[in-house]
Amino acid sequence: MIHAREKDFEEVKKIFQQHKEWFGFVRMDYIQRMIMNNGVKFNFPVSFDNKHVSYNLLIFEENVVITYTIIRRSHRMGNVKTFKGDYIIHQIGAKNRDGSASRILQKFFQEYGTTSLTVRSDNVIAKKFYLKNNMRLVGECTFSKGTIPGDVYSYVTNTPKIGALGI
Ligand SMILES: CC(C)(COP(=O)(O)OP(=O)(O)OC[C@H]1O[C@@H](n2cnc3c(N)ncnc32)[C@H](O)[C@@H]1OP(=O)(O)O)[C@@H](O)C(=O)NCCC(=O)NCCS
Repeated sequence: MIHAREKDFEEVKKIFQQHKEWFGFVRMDYIQRMIMNNGVKFNFPVSFDNKHVSYNLLIFEENVVITYTIIRRSHRMGNVKTFKGDYIIHQIGAKNRDGSASRILQKFFQEYGTTSLTVRSDNVIAKKFYLKNNMRLVGECTFSKGTIPGDVYSYVTNTPKIGALGI
């Protein structure tokens, strides 16, 4: 997949700003750090320099942004157990409503495999989008110290490993 480079920074920033209702205030050093991580991982030069700590990578393809990480050790997302080697999508946002978000998400699943994400329960559009793209509702979570309810969705490939605890 195509990962953002330094030249993409302004366009990526605009997509985060376009969807501030859902992304909230996204720090510019967070975006820069992901582009720096892309540079290390895929071996291209980046001149940004900041101390923000994050291991996320940032895909920017067809004006769709996906931020993600590979899970380093098993842990829980809400009441769902996730496993080392699977993927977490932190954010997905599209500039245009033209099918591009579905295309890029499907490409992500084909290239990376089992993927989980959390979403605010009131984000009806995103939840419909995840179901349409073959994800399943597998559990619940909360945001902002338990004050905002959220849902956990997973796309599972090959051997199913992800399951809601207690279900
Ligand atoms: C979630 C999000 C990425 C989904 O993107 P999207 O553009 O709705 O999804 P798609 O790429 O599948 O677009 C399909 C829509 O585009 C329209 N469309 C127009 N031309 C199209 C084409 N050539 N092919 C397919 N769809 C097309 C369709 O009407 C379709 O709508 P439908 O699903 O109601 O039938 C987008 O709504 C978004 O950026 N939301 C804000 C950020 C957010 O909430 N992110 C999730 C939490 S992190």
